[in-house]
Parts: sequence; C-alpha cells; structure tokens
Amino acid sequence: MRDTFVAGLRCPACGGEHSFTLCAQERDEREWREGLLRCRVCTREFRVHRGVPELLYEPPEHILLEAAGLERFAEVMVASGWNRETVLALPNVEHGYWYVQARSMHQLLTTVPFHAGNSVLDVGSNTCWAANHFAERGLSAIALDIATTELQGLYTADYFLDEGRVFFERVLGSMDSIPLASSSIDYVYCCEVLHHNDPHGLRRTFAEIFRVLRPGGRLCIVNETLKTLRDPHGVNVEGVEQFEGYEHAHWALGYRLAAIRAGFLTEVTEPHYRPFFGDAEYAPRPDAGPLAGRIGRAGFSLRRIGLVRRLYLAWLNHVWGGVSLNMIATKPRRYVGRHERMATPERLLRTGLAGLRDLVNRLRGRAPARLPRTPEQAQRMMLELPAPTGSRPPSAPSG
Ligand SMILES: C[S@@+](CC[C@H](N)C(=O)[O-])C[C@H]1O[C@@H](n2cnc3c(N)ncnc32)[C@H](O)[C@@H]1O
Ligand SMILES: [Zn+2]
Repeated sequence: MRDTFVAGLRCPACGGEHSFTLCAQERDEREWREGLLRCRVCTREFRVHRGVPELLYEPPEHILLEAAGLERFAEVMVASGWNRETVLALPNVEHGYWYVQARSMHQLLTTVPFHAGNSVLDVGSNTCWAANHFAERGLSAIALDIATTELQGLYTADYFLDEGRVFFERVLGSMDSIPLASSSIDYVYCCEVLHHNDPHGLRRTFAEIFRVLRPGGRLCIVNETLKTLRDPHGVNVEGVEQFEGYEHAHWALGYRLAAIRAGFLTEVTEPHYRPFFGDAEYAPRPDAGPLAGRIGRAGFSLRRIGLVRRLYLAWLNHVWGGVSLNMIATKPRRYVGRHERMATPERLLRTGLAGLRDLVNRLRGRAPARLPRTPEQAQRMMLELPAPTGSRPPSAPSG
C-alpha cells in the first residue's frame, strides 16, 4: 500500500472518510508492506499485511467460510498444475472459460472510454489478473476481495507486481461495505462476483458501488451468473457446496432492477464472445446437414437487425441461458451531493429524469452518443471514422 492510498480509504467500522493515519512499519521498494491503519474518528486499528490493508470488519460467517473454501480450492489448483507462470499468462490460457474472459476484457476495452489515469475498482478480483490488465493500460487500479490466499486472493497480486512493470493497490474488504471514500472512483469492474450476494446483499452492494463512483462514473458488469427458465439454479450447486461458496444466481431483470433502484442508468450489453454477437462469419457445425446449414445461415444473417439482436439477447438472458449478463450502469452526473440519503422513490424519479435529459441531449446532438454495442461499431470508434448512422463516438461518461 502506498501513502497516497491512505486518504482514499473509508473506515469500515464507523464510516469515517479520509480518517486513517498510517503507522507504517516495514516497506519494500514499491510500497508499505506492514503497518497499522488507525481511524481518527473511532480510534480502531486495522492491520496492513503483505501490502494489503485488512478492512474486512466483523464479516458474517458466510464470508469467512467462503474465504476458507477458496484456500482449499487454491490447494486443488496447485495439485492440478497452477503456478505463478500460469497466473502471469491470464487471461490468455487455452480454456473455454478463459477465452470468454479474454474476449470480454477486449470488448470492454474497445467499447468503454477508459482513459489513462482513470481509477478502476476490481471487485472480487480473485487472482487480480483484471486489475493487472487495467494497470498495464495506465489506469489506477484497486483490487478488492474477501480472500488473500495465493492463486485465489489478493496475495496473488505480488506475482504481477514482482514483474516490476505496474503497480496497483489491493484491499481486503466486502463489496457490500466498500472501504473506499464516496464519489472517488471512475469505474467499477465486477466480473462474476455480484452473485456472491443474496437479494438483500445485492441491493446493499449496488448502493455501495453507487456511493463510491464519481457522478458520471460507470459500473461495468461482466459475465455475471444468471438464473434462467432453462437453468433455475444458475450456479454449479455441487462445486458451491464442496467449497462453501456463497452463491445466488439472480434473474437478469433482478440485477437490472437492483441497479436502477440504486440510482443507475443501465444498459444491457451483448456478449461478443457469442458468434451471433461477434464479428466472425457464419460457420455451420461439422455435423450439420445442408438444410440445417441453410437455416443457420439465414438466422445468422438476422444479426444485422438491431431489434433482432435485442430480442435474441433477452431470450438468452431470461430463457435459454448459455450466456452470462453484461451490463453497463452509469451514475448520473447531476446527483452530486445528495444521492446517498435519498429515499428510493425520489432516487428513481431523479434517475428517470437524468435518463430523459440524456436522451433529449443526444437527440439534439449535445450529449455523447451511446457506447458502441457491436464489434463493428467499436472498430469504427477505434478507427475514429465517422459513423454512418449519425451516432458519434462516446467521449466522457454521460449522465
Ligand atoms: C468467481 S470469482 C471472480 C473472478 C474474478 N473477478 C475474475 O475475473 O477472475 C469471485 C470472487 O469474488 C470474491 N468475493 C466473494 N464475496 C465477496 C464479497 N462480499 N466482497 C468482495 N469479494 C467477494 C471471492 O473471494 C472470489 O475471489
Ligand atoms: Zn472509524
């Protein structure tokens, strides 16, 4: 942990912001490794160990059980050959799961206007591969998790940091009580983590993410586990039981409504790793007959129609499954100052008005265009070619 990070922390016990003093004890060439954080408001002390401020305050039992389960899972990973080299290569590992992670990160980096120096909080960072990826692109990254164990928690960050190319902060804490100051973060990245909440925890987590984001800041939800009509569990029940995970898949609409309730403007985005939403040509399955091939090709050609893409995505997200949820949630710009203690109806009204204001401004050409949805739109934006539909490339977050 570096000195500059101390001021951005929030005491998880009393909620005091910018209230910590660091009593540093031991450092290496990049950061403080050991020390104590003392809160000037409530006088409580929190340890800093291996560079990680331990701000998980009075965690419920399910969090302790889940963290212990991850330690056991890390042992299984070691036994199956995972080591420092494997982690350093992430997400570029030959495995379907990691293909999806890598493609989703690429999608994010090509559709969301991250700028060097923006801050990004990686919630449920696990190995911290994503925090490392953001840091490599010049963002100021912070990894948050409830686990520290190597290969499944925050200490894994040292593998990346030891390479000496980037630095990012790590903090032990829970997403439903984020130990960071209000309105201090540009982006929050949640990849496969929000489902580690029951419905009540999900509401608290969205409220916390809303609190820590700056007005106009964005929450990027990536590959979130879904409950669908075809798969009403959504989670791997056996694995969850074995490692005592605290996992609750929610409906796509449930995540979205929880985000709206917290005050966010939301947009469900397409998973580019699915061929229909990607930029690959149609390739029939090798065992498909000529008729199936023709039907498949005709269905695939419908991806040129925006409404069809939306309907197909809604079908996958709610009924058929086989995908996980991707969503961008934006904190409106005009909430400054008052949003935290606002009652839900007032917040909903203000969110609705902010959305309407956005729409009107966009129609009048006075607001940044929507984020690109398709790989082709993203490519056009990257090449800075004028878009043919009259839409403009996004600049600053709108709100
Ligand atoms: C499936 S992993 C996430 C994977 C990771 N984001 C990635 O892309 O590789 C879920 C992570 O969420 C963490 N987690 C679970 N409950 C949490 C909580 N309340 N607050 C923060 N992190 C939590 C777990 O420790 C675990 O590392
Ligand atoms: Zn305190």
